[in-house]
Amino acid sequence: MPRVSTRESLIHGTGVFAGAPKRPGEIVLKIDDSRVVTEADPLDPRNGEEEHHCDYLSGGKVVLMRSPERFINHRCDPNTYIRTIAGDRYVVALTEIHPGDEITYNYCINGDGDTEWSCSCDSPDCRKLHLSGFFHLPEAVQFRYLALLDDWFIAENQDEVDALKRRIFI
Ligand SMILES: C[S@@+](CC[C@H](N)C(=O)[O-])C[C@H]1O[C@@H](n2cnc3c(N)ncnc32)[C@H](O)[C@@H]1O
Ligand SMILES: [Zn+2]
Repeated sequence: MPRVSTRESLIHGTGVFAGAPKRPGEIVLKIDDSRVVTEADPLDPRNGEEEHHCDYLSGGKVVLMRSPERFINHRCDPNTYIRTIAGDRYVVALTEIHPGDEITYNYCINGDGDTEWSCSCDSPDCRKLHLSGFFHLPEAVQFRYLALLDDWFIAENQDEVDALKRRIFI
């Protein structure tokens, strides 16, 4: 049984689908972050390397997303999240996942910026037209996802994360 497969998604374009059941906390796949984009080694459009396939990580590190993870769509109530463990990034199950389920994560978790974009995930929690970036999420959603933030994102946004924690715990 394949770990995951890619095919047409009802959310957008191509999506990634589970090939095996997963329990919350289990690793769904390891992200291949080996193609680091730098000034010395820039994107090569002749090889299909395009900016919209890049992921922006800690310390300004830019990586070119590979298949299958580059096809994971956003969902406002996702079934996975991304966790860095010993320097490698993994897609980890957040909920029970059944074979055939579309693998999704919430792009706003560990997300910076204030790009406006329109979501078509169609979940009951869908925020439709919204701003990217974790701190643009409604505060109740920030509270819910606090434990899912990656260590590098917390380190880079320590003041805002501390302020959020203070609002929760007082
Ligand atoms: C990493 S790609 C995901 C794979 C994409 N479905 C494809 O076929 O290339 C990210 C892009 O997919 C689209 N996308 C992903 N999730 C979406 C969603 N919930 N609503 C609308 N567009 C979405 C956006 O255009 C986004 O920039
Ligand atoms: Zn949505």
